[in-house]
Amino acid sequence: MDMYQENILDHYKHPRNKGKIEGADFQHREPNPLCGDVVEIYVKMADGKVVDLKWEGSGCAISQASASILYENLLGKTEDELNVLNVEKVLELLQTEVNPARMKCATLGLVALQKALQGQK
Ligand code: FES
Repeated sequence: MDMYQENILDHYKHPRNKGKIEGADFQHREPNPLCGDVVEIYVKMADGKVVDLKWEGSGCAISQASASILYENLLGKTEDELNVLNVEKVLELLQTEVNPARMKCATLGLVALQKALQGQK
């Protein structure tokens, strides 16, 4: 196992920023219909920036770790900065190869964020 895979395993075992925000400005629950794994995100904004972000979820290591790793990087970001996040950015943060069959796992947290920003509950 390389250091990047160890990082993924660490985030899976010890996910960062787990929890729930009452009265979040953006919130969305995104399931992967293929497996039932889920990521639910809560974002609180103030002065146009992310001041708090929490999430809940359960599922495979890559879905949970990639949500944890992506979300860990979002405090202080503006809505515009959140809106330009994409698959490439997630893969850059994961720093490891993702098998095409696992791409839906790796991007579950990203999709949850994108739909939250679009106002989808
Ligand atoms: Fe369900 Fe990965 S196997 S999101």
